[in-house]
Amino acid sequence: MVRHFLTLLDLTPEEALGLLDLADRLRGIDARDRLPGRTLGLIFEKPSLRTRVSFEAGMAQLGGSSIFLQGKDVGLGVRESVRDFARVISQYVDMLAVRTFAHSILEELAAHASIPVINALSDSAHPCQAMADLLTVRRVFGRLDDSLSIVFVGDGNNVARSLAVACGLLGPRFTLAAPAAYDFPADFRATFAAAFPGRELRVVHDPTRAAVDADVIYTDVWTSMGQEAESETRRSIFRPYQVDDALFSRANRDAIFLHCLPAHRGEEVTDAVLDGPRSQVVEQAANRMHFQKALLTWLMGRD
Ligand code: CP
Ligand code: NVA
Repeated sequence: MVRHFLTLLDLTPEEALGLLDLADRLRGIDARDRLPGRTLGLIFEKPSLRTRVSFEAGMAQLGGSSIFLQGKDVGLGVRESVRDFARVISQYVDMLAVRTFAHSILEELAAHASIPVINALSDSAHPCQAMADLLTVRRVFGRLDDSLSIVFVGDGNNVARSLAVACGLLGPRFTLAAPAAYDFPADFRATFAAAFPGRELRVVHDPTRAAVDADVIYTDVWTSMGQEAESETRRSIFRPYQVDDALFSRANRDAIFLHCLPAHRGEEVTDAVLDGPRSQVVEQAANRMHFQKALLTWLMGRD
């Protein structure tokens, strides 16, 4: 059966840990013998720097190649049905990474493709990001367990949800600090509870309270791609959730700051925190490629 990577719920804890270990093993070695002759197709319906380039560069480092397709040019679901697209592209490439809006598009692609489909970000999940995030946390703290507290301050969006699931799989405690109308939806809470019985999905509305004793303070933009019409409203609602020095100082002394990037400096985070000595955002971005190299290798059975 073809393995897909649409959400982190597709992984067991052992598989998730195995992927982090593989990412560290592949880091810095010549791995061009892993995927020679293999091709990754990329279809992006939203902009990207990190995800696109880290997939393409990662594939080259594994000895394979990639083909980038703009979603609009391909006309996924417009020029032809998602089903026909999936069946045909499966004849040309060995894996497909897709960045889209509705998560159901990914599910439909996966249902009809005969090759692995990877979620390169949807409106509800960003699993590659969350795995790179925990790879970063493990490298800084040397462990991933419930002695670590990760606090996401901001919108309960795709990045926050995948990070919560990654913590459920790999051990750290997770807290979301969000305005009431922007915390996790009921269906996500129910899915989390069913997947991780006994694990708390802590949600608070007061960012100052949430930040106390955190080892990681994480934030993301208040307005995600596709929500631009709401940006003014969101800017005023999320204002108290800005990660600034005062908020960051509530965390543990050796706490780190993470952000998936791109950042809206002066909105969800100040320059002082983003560029400060505890910020790990560049290492975090670098780890996107290390994780994805592990994922590509694993999906092709070359781990
Ligand atoms: N973090 C992230 O996914 O960045 P891009 O949107 O640039 O790919
Ligand atoms: N939540 C953001 C993440 C971008 C990497 C978005 O979906 O636009």
